[in-house]
This record gives sequence, C-alpha cells and structure tokens, in this order.
Amino acid sequence: MKKSLGAVGELFPQSVFIIASYGEDGTPNAMNAAWAGECDYGHIAINLGSHLSTANIIRRGAFTVAPANTDNIISADYFGIAKGEKVNKARQSGLTFTKSEHVDAPVIEEYPLTMECEVVSVEGDEKDARIVGRVVNVLVDEAILDEEGRVDFSRMRPVVYDSARRVYRVVGAPVADAWSVGKALMGE
Ligand SMILES: Cc1cc2nc3c(=O)[nH]c(=O)nc-3n(C[C@H](O)[C@H](O)[C@H](O)COP(=O)(O)O)c2cc1C
Repeated sequence: MKKSLGAVGELFPQSVFIIASYGEDGTPNAMNAAWAGECDYGHIAINLGSHLSTANIIRRGAFTVAPANTDNIISADYFGIAKGEKVNKARQSGLTFTKSEHVDAPVIEEYPLTMECEVVSVEGDEKDARIVGRVVNVLVDEAILDEEGRVDFSRMRPVVYDSARRVYRVVGAPVADAWSVGKALMGE
C-alpha cells in the first residue's frame, strides 16, 4: 500500500555545500546551501534566496563550494544560521579564509575539498537566484586521498542534509558497484 504525500519538496537528503564569497569591501563570507548540486561535469547549480552571499556572488562573478564533512559540522551549520549582514562569520568561525588563486572568492582552508567556480549564468536576481558556476579548479587535502589519488569519502566523511528531520547524516559505506550490478537484469 502506497501513500501519496503530495508535491513535497523537502524529502530526500541533499549535499551540504558551504558557499564562500567576498563582499563589496572584500570581507569574506560563507553560507550553507543544500539546494545545490553538480548539474553536469564541471558545473554546479546553486539555488539562493535573499542573502548577502547571493548579492556577493552576483557582484563578484565567483564563489567557492566546499562540501561539509563531519570534522566541520559546527561551522557548516553556523554558516547556515548566522547572517553575514550582521556578523563577520569568517572571523567568528575562527577558520582561515584565503584568496583563491583562480577565482575572486575565498577558500576555507579547514574544509578538505573546495571547488573554485566562476559564475556562468544567473537566473533571477539578488532576492532569488539560480546560479550556475563553472568549476575552474578543485583543491583537495592530500589527507583525504587514497593510494591512487582518488578522493576517499570514508576519510573525508561528507554529510548530507535530511530536510524531513532537520539533521545532518554522514555519507555511508559503498553498497554496490555502479555501471555493473544492473547487468544482472540484462542477462549478463
Ligand atoms: C541545512 C541548511 C541548508 C540551507 N540551504 C540553503 C539553500 O540551499 N539556499 C539558500 O538560499 N539558503 C539556504 N540555507 C540558509 C542560508 O545558509 C542562511 O540564510 C545563511 O544565513 C545565509 O548567509 P548570508 O546571509 O551570510 O549570506 C540553508 C541553511 C541550512 C542550515
């Protein structure tokens, strides 16, 4: 027996991305965005409401994206509840914001993986925008790479946001080989 839930939009765990940007005067800022994701190879789409970050990103044409992980969970949530208009979140977080070498946006050193993005399209405005960024470089801490140089998610421990329960969940163990287990239904 299935139950219809209607057109609910807050159902399935989503990536937790920390989006960092510079203000007009160069002050670094960061926000939490779960309504965001990689929309193809090399592009990230972010859906932003009316925030300082939205205005920053549109003005500067750049942002960085750092997936939140368990080691950074407190600052990740802080970036999603404090307002850059009211407080210098970079300073309050105690984290190290450094200028990206590739785009006009900060890199948060303590986050193990950062995608540096230049804005390629903006749908909407500073109050409500869907922004697509092209990833021009990815920075990664060697500590989360495996012996073959691939990002090892069991070392990084990224989290997703479960909006139905308002909790963060850690990404778990692999369950099957992709592009492979489905072959069982192809008679192979
Ligand atoms: C778990 C979580 C997910 C969020 N996802 C989004 C999102 O996808 N888009 C958005 O506009 N705001 C989102 N927010 C809210 C912003 O992060 C929040 O309003 C933040 O204070 C904005 O920062 P700023 O005002 O310094 O730019 C989220 C907050 C949390 C805690």
